[in-house]
Amino acid sequence: MSSEGLDRGLVLDAARVTEIAAIAAWKLVGRGDEKAADQAAVDAMRTALNDLEIDGEIVIGEGERDEAPMLYIGEKVGKGKGAKIDIALDPLEGTTLTAKAMANACAVMAWAPKGTLLNAPDTYMDKIACGPGYPAGVIDLDKTPAENVQALAQAKGVEPTEITVCILDRPRHADIIASVRSVGARVHLITDGDVAGVINTTDPETGIDLYVGQGGAPEGVLACAALKCVGGQFQGRLVFRNADERARAGRVGITDLDKKYDLHEMVRADAIFAATGVTKGALLDGVRFSDGHVHTHTLVMDSATQTVRDVRMKRPI
Ligand code: FBP
Repeated sequence: MSSEGLDRGLVLDAARVTEIAAIAAWKLVGRGDEKAADQAAVDAMRTALNDLEIDGEIVIGEGERDEAPMLYIGEKVGKGKGAKIDIALDPLEGTTLTAKAMANACAVMAWAPKGTLLNAPDTYMDKIACGPGYPAGVIDLDKTPAENVQALAQAKGVEPTEITVCILDRPRHADIIASVRSVGARVHLITDGDVAGVINTTDPETGIDLYVGQGGAPEGVLACAALKCVGGQFQGRLVFRNADERARAGRVGITDLDKKYDLHEMVRADAIFAATGVTKGALLDGVRFSDGHVHTHTLVMDSATQTVRDVRMKRPI
């Protein structure tokens, strides 16, 4: 491992891990059982990780040790040899999407050198993100959504009416949606899956310019690992609804509860990011079984080289 990042050989290993989790989850698509789908992905991802020559520690996982028997925060994975790495994962991002056979479910993971990923507690986070190519600071979590739309439109050289903002469709986002619409921008509502929601801002094909709203803090770290590889801006601030959530932050060493994090504070070194589609979405095709083969579609990215690989895997069943 270099001081700046991870061995390039780990890139394909990362893709294999998310492929295996996605295939396991696919078997539960449309069966109405979120827990079973998640469990299948967790089991498969854990087995795949433990087969690798890495000395990994889960920093973003399925929860704290007493609530998650597998892939809990602090669990060691891999054969204990090789690169010492922090692992952030969501074996099934979009459990409801999977249970209901809806678009955009995927298996997601990020790797970075030990001690360089934010140990985000399992709480919400206020987030804002845009894609690459804009001046630093063009968006700011402390400005209103309308102000952010106007700033982004000006930087893009278009009217606010030509800006599209992706937002999770939740009652808590009513004010954000109203603010965005007050300046004429389009709102693209998603039912779940804000890792993909943030990544969509980096791909002009999706038509999404900006992501705003409150989602899981762990998903924020995963999204930042992806942005680190392809560029873009992100700011996030943890949201605590009660004393238990504040205690969670304390247990992972967070003392400044009001801190506004930027992308490079959430992912402090070069990272590898991999996501494999479970169901078809804007960025990824879903798992498909045909002609006696299983087919998967994975994006695997390496921030050290700013490389994005679009990997199509096909193997006999
Ligand atoms: P799960 O895969 O755990 O179901 O999470 C999906 C998700 O939509 C995330 O992408 C997002 O960050 C979070 O849930 C939002 O939480 P909530 O559903 O409580 O608004």
